[in-house]
Amino acid sequence: MHVPSLIEKKREGGELSDAEIDFVIGAFTRGDMPNYQMSALAMAIFFRGMTPVETTHLTRAMMNSGRVLRYTENTPLKVDKHSTGGVGDKVSLVLAPLLACDDVWVPMISGRGLGITGGTLDKLESIPGFNVNLDEATALAQLEKIGVFMIGQTADICPADKKLYALRDVTGTVPSQPLIVASIMSKKLAESLDRLVLDVKFGAGAFMKTRADAEQLALGMTAVGEPLGVKITYLLSPMNEPLGGTVGNALEVREAVETLQGRGPADLVELVLDLSERVANAPRATLEKWLNDGTAWKKIVALVEAQGGDASVLEKIGEIHRAPSRHLIGAPRSGIIAKMDAELIGRACVQLGAGRAKATDRIDFAVGCSAIKKVGTKVERDEPLLIVHARDEGSFQAAWPLIQQAVEVG
Ligand code: URA
Repeated sequence: MHVPSLIEKKREGGELSDAEIDFVIGAFTRGDMPNYQMSALAMAIFFRGMTPVETTHLTRAMMNSGRVLRYTENTPLKVDKHSTGGVGDKVSLVLAPLLACDDVWVPMISGRGLGITGGTLDKLESIPGFNVNLDEATALAQLEKIGVFMIGQTADICPADKKLYALRDVTGTVPSQPLIVASIMSKKLAESLDRLVLDVKFGAGAFMKTRADAEQLALGMTAVGEPLGVKITYLLSPMNEPLGGTVGNALEVREAVETLQGRGPADLVELVLDLSERVANAPRATLEKWLNDGTAWKKIVALVEAQGGDASVLEKIGEIHRAPSRHLIGAPRSGIIAKMDAELIGRACVQLGAGRAKATDRIDFAVGCSAIKKVGTKVERDEPLLIVHARDEGSFQAAWPLIQQAVEVG
């Protein structure tokens, strides 16, 4: 097949056949189709969309680009959750160890930062030594031992998503429903799950700006996943202001640690419990108890150790990754916080170095925002609204106009 003709077909709004999709995904995964052609095709899909048949086939082709996990008989139920991406969304860091306290297995395959949204893998890698690249045998052995692993797409599992995800991040092709469905569902279907809960975000800091679009995305993912035997539920959750009080990799790990020690912010705890109870066997009250009595905390320590990380630093991750230039942003006047715009804060954090502009960029784990106050909070003039953590004065100055626009006190 001739790749430029396939790109042109999609550019003109045509429907790609199963064989054409298989060809493209195979060639791209093997390295026979260069990134510039895949970027062009992704942009054509962004503008032209895909039919449900194409989306389903793209998902299956991406899932089959690597291995699909197989478990031995009589093992616990396999459960997971996936978010469509938000700003300050550190739910997975809390939810995966929490669910693993239950009598289920959590084989979690996640992604890196995407656009303005942070990625679980980048956050985990701020923990010194943490290895997100386990091979299949090691990952399965870890499930037997502690009931959870947290890994990324690898050369073995979902290699097509590993490559396409990195391209989409830096080519303006993230907020495309078929590409999101295929990216998320290829990973989740490769986990061979029994139950999956989807956290589908909508609002300023989400890829879907309206509730209606988020619902359509949720239905799209459900339609692709259920025929393969996964019981899927979803939650539509607002993403107009950041989740919790931090945005940025190590800052979010610090907040996740606090949450696993029973000291999490109310919105994060609520969402973790809302999602967990949809796939857990244990009732909500028990899940809540595990967050507060040290059970979930012990599980993340076991998880970090199992994946080569230094768990002794978890409680001082903020000291290990300490941004030298910190700026306390005070309220311009007394009043009620009317806006804490997740999109602008997300963009400011990418500008500070918490995300990527090019696929080869290195993440700065230390930078971001913390102590972010919630919309509706009453503040006095000059009272801190948030703290910006920057590598240097120059990067703070570059992010500052975005932060200024993000916040409104009415
Ligand atoms: N999460 C993913 O894994 N993929 C997307 O495209 C968006 C969120």
